[in-house]
Amino acid sequence: MATFTDTQHANIVELRNISQSYDGGKTYILQDFQLLVEDKPNQGQFVVILGVSGCGKSTVLRYIAGLQKPTKGEVLFDGRARTEEDKVGMVFQKYSSLPWMSVLDNVALGLQYQGISKSERRDRAREMIKKVGLEGHEWKYAQYPTLSGGQLQRVAIARSLLANPRILLMDEPFGALDVNTRIRMQDMLLKIWHEVHPTIIFVTHDIAEAVYLGDDIYVMKTTPSKIVHHVKVDLPKERSREIKRTPRFVDLVYDIEDKMVNLYKEANLKYR
Ligand SMILES: Nc1ncnc2c1ncn2[C@@H]1O[C@H](COP(=O)(O)OP(=O)(O)O)[C@@H](O)[C@H]1O
Ligand SMILES: [Mg+2]
Repeated sequence: MATFTDTQHANIVELRNISQSYDGGKTYILQDFQLLVEDKPNQGQFVVILGVSGCGKSTVLRYIAGLQKPTKGEVLFDGRARTEEDKVGMVFQKYSSLPWMSVLDNVALGLQYQGISKSERRDRAREMIKKVGLEGHEWKYAQYPTLSGGQLQRVAIARSLLANPRILLMDEPFGALDVNTRIRMQDMLLKIWHEVHPTIIFVTHDIAEAVYLGDDIYVMKTTPSKIVHHVKVDLPKERSREIKRTPRFVDLVYDIEDKMVNLYKEANLKYR
C-alpha cells in the first residue's frame, strides 16, 4: 500500500483503498484512493489538498466528516473504523450560519449537544469569538450584509473550533472572499491553529494559500482521481507575510503550479 507519511506517529485519519461511483459502478470518480494523515498530538498538522476541479476533494472531506460513505474502501480514525462518535469540525465555502440567530448563539451551537448549560456555552463562545476577532459583534445577526463574508466565515470557524475537535475540515473556506480579506483570514487561522493545534485538512484552489498555510500538500489528479504528489513544505512552522517573498516560497508555488498544469493537460482540461 502506498504511504505518504512517515510512520513515527499513528494515523489520525486513514482513507484506505477507497473507490467512489455515482452511477452504480459504471464509472468511478475515485479509484483505490489513499490518504494518511499522521497524528501529531499537541502540535497539530496542517494538510492541504489541491487538485483538478471536480476531482473529488469535497467528496474526500465528506467521508472524513461522516457525511458520506464510499462505494468501496475504509475510513479509519486512529487505525479503527470511523464511528458516529468521531466528531470533526467542518467549515464550508458557503456561509453556514443560522441568519435568524446572533453571532453568540451561532458560535455556542458548537457545544449544543454536549450537555453544557446555556450560560457556560455562551461564556465559552465569547472566548472563541475573541480569538477569531469578532469581539463587539456578539449580538448581531449572523447574516449578510449585517456581517461581511469574512466575518461570517469567522463565525463558522469559531463554531467549529468551540467543541475542540481533533480534526477540522475546511472546504475552500476563503474561496468566496476578496483577496485582502482572504489574506487576513489566513493569518487569523494560522494564529488560532498555533494556539489550539487541531489537525486541519484544508481544500483550496489557491496554490500560494496552500504553501502559506500547509505543512503537507497533497495534489490530486482526476479520472480516476488519486493523490499523485506529496509536497512537504519546508518553510519555518511560524509563517508571516514576509515569507511569501522568499525564494523558497516562490519555488514551491511554481513547482506546484507546474504539476497542476501537467495534471490539467493530462485530463484534457484547460488550466485557467
Ligand atoms: N451526489 C453526486 N452524484 C453524482 N455525482 C456526484 C455527486 N457528488 C459529486 N459528484 C461528482 O463527483 C465528482 C467529484 O465531486 P467533488 O467531490 O465535489 O469534487 P471537487 O470538490 O474536487 O470539485 C464531480 O465530478 C461531481 O460531479
Ligand atoms: Mg469541492
